[in-house]
Amino acid sequence: MENWFYDEFKHCGVDYSQVREAEKYDDRHQKFRDFEKEFRGMLEFLELGKTEEKTVIDLGCGTGAMTVLAADLFKTVYAVDISPVMLEKAKKKLDENVHNIVFANAGFLTYEHDGEAVDLVMTKVAFHHLPDFWKQVALLRINRMVKMGGLLYIHDIVFQFDPGDYAAKIDAWVEGFEKVAGEKFRADVENHIRNEYSTFGWILTGMLERAGFAVEKYRCEDDFSTEYACRKVKDLNG
Ligand SMILES: C[S@@+](CC[C@H](N)C(=O)[O-])C[C@H]1O[C@@H](n2cnc3c(N)ncnc32)[C@H](O)[C@@H]1O
Repeated sequence: MENWFYDEFKHCGVDYSQVREAEKYDDRHQKFRDFEKEFRGMLEFLELGKTEEKTVIDLGCGTGAMTVLAADLFKTVYAVDISPVMLEKAKKKLDENVHNIVFANAGFLTYEHDGEAVDLVMTKVAFHHLPDFWKQVALLRINRMVKMGGLLYIHDIVFQFDPGDYAAKIDAWVEGFEKVAGEKFRADVENHIRNEYSTFGWILTGMLERAGFAVEKYRCEDDFSTEYACRKVKDLNG
């Protein structure tokens, strides 16, 4: 690896390499998330149709909130995360009949997909861990993991507000989280803004286009939490 290459295994913001973060993750997130509803919402949004012959990579899978649900419907799920303790929590959720998940301790910049290109790459609340330049590098790598005509789904905190409004928008967002999920989560959300790398929608859209993806649609109700459905339209290997 070149000396200038980004070390994605050093966690920025919330440190998901810590056992205590992995232990508390699902309880804390389920104060404001319904994993099953999110998963169903994603499938509807992507209009994927039948999934039983399809393959998916879940990048930044964490404790497997989406991975275990995807395993019920997809042929194979590749579940990738830089944190061994988050992966361990995901593995513990599986019953012994589940054999179609392939786990990998790697990340956006280091995962090497050995199998055939997949129908879908999904990533939920993980992409903001990379600074923008490295997001672009990651998207170029993701292009090679997805079939031509296949999909990339990104759900993340992406700033959709006018840049000049940032202070008021972020203040209101942080307050809102404290009301729903408590003081500790407020601190996590502040940490996110301070130390992690959420970016503006217009930047992410430009990066997606340059990585061979067309943004077919996106949805965002609060100027922060945004879902993107992106179709691979250009093969960068070719
Ligand atoms: C907020 S959790 C999201 C987990 C899961 N996708 C979900 O929806 O609950 C963020 C996850 O991203 C992982 N992560 C951070 N940087 C990463 C990287 N460069 N590549 C892959 N995963 C990364 C963390 O280890 C953590 O498990």
